Amino acid sequence: MSEKLAIHGGEPVRTRPFPSGKKVGKDELKELVDVIDSGQLFRWGGTKVSTFEKEFADLLGTKYAVASTSGTSALHVAVGMVDPAPGDEIITAPITDIGSIIPIVYQTAIPVFADIDPRTFNMDPVDIEKKISPRTKAIMVVHLFGNPCDMDAIMAISRHHGIPVIEDCSQAHLSEHKGRYVGTIGDIGTFSFQMSKQLTAGDGGVTVTDRSDYGKRGMLFADKGWHRAQFGAREYTLLGLNYRMNELTGAVVLAQTRRARDIIGARRKNGDLLTELVQDAPNITPQRTLPQCKTGYWQYGMAVGKASPFTADQFVEALGAEGIGCGAHYIGKPIFLCHGAIRDQVMFGGSRFPFDHPGARPTQYAAGVCPVTEDVLNRMVTLSVTEFLGEEDIQDMATAVNKVAKGLS
Ligand SMILES: Cc1ncc(COP(=O)(O)O)c(C=O)c1O
Repeated sequence: MSEKLAIHGGEPVRTRPFPSGKKVGKDELKELVDVIDSGQLFRWGGTKVSTFEKEFADLLGTKYAVASTSGTSALHVAVGMVDPAPGDEIITAPITDIGSIIPIVYQTAIPVFADIDPRTFNMDPVDIEKKISPRTKAIMVVHLFGNPCDMDAIMAISRHHGIPVIEDCSQAHLSEHKGRYVGTIGDIGTFSFQMSKQLTAGDGGVTVTDRSDYGKRGMLFADKGWHRAQFGAREYTLLGLNYRMNELTGAVVLAQTRRARDIIGARRKNGDLLTELVQDAPNITPQRTLPQCKTGYWQYGMAVGKASPFTADQFVEALGAEGIGCGAHYIGKPIFLCHGAIRDQVMFGGSRFPFDHPGARPTQYAAGVCPVTEDVLNRMVTLSVTEFLGEEDIQDMATAVNKVAKGLS
């Protein structure tokens, strides 16, 4: 006999609120005071942004880091590094934030979507390879919720076809793939420091690479193409934007970078414990992490089974009644259907450019393009396992997940 669910009038598993904490404190304040005392808020002349770039690159083990204003700008810098021509294609993920897609179209390239693996929720290497065309300029993978993609298979495809890989690690700070941090396995890695991310400055971003040509180009791209080493008359050497991080943001991300291992370590401990405790829950499966990989649990993803007698919405409602806040469906539908202008290919000044650029291959964004993604989003449930939770909190979450899964089955 299963226990009476709270949604049916039973006792809820949890009545106390879950602990929440402040992501910033005295470490950030100390760095910020330095900046205010110095009077220098601009990165060229200050020290915090450049120190952050150096320490973040050292932490990951990469040669170059280019700080910027957001995860979106960090991805735009990455796309600027590979420098697509109008109508070139970049293969990317259908489950992501729109910040992965906007830089591709703003750089006049065309996003092409590879379907996902239903267990990892990440891009399926087999479908990536199917989507390669003579116009493919890059593969942009997204480590969804911090869960590393199948980088062995993806890098094999990349090297076989001579196509660079951009890793969107906006949700995957210090996630590991076979002993290496994500963002250092492909040719370029990008990170977001938006407020909800594991490391944050409210907003901010960084792009990392080992390639000196990309590193130099990225620094120029984020600084209006300005070749600052040049004395005398100004020289702008490429078309770029102003994505410069300022010293106040640099101060905060520097302090966060120095605490990164502790923050991600605490989240990982919590998420891994939850996985262990819910392994026997019927009709519900946690997002699969590949062997020898470690996620940082930006979100804790699960999927209701295909043949489950309950839906993701019913599961979330029942879990909510047990005192566990969670969400169903994440972005709801593939990202190309979430954004009207991209879905309908209505771009600059109402034109279809770059979709109608001579030589561009016809692309359609419609239901059915990524059927596995649609199915998984229908069944997806997300929980939050932050660094502020302790073992008892995770035990309560697991008790509720097991109780609800049994009760609804
Ligand atoms: C996977 C992914 N890519 C890109 C972005 C864009 O980052 P930002 O919001 O910092 O511009 C985000 C953040 O929401 C993200 O989660």
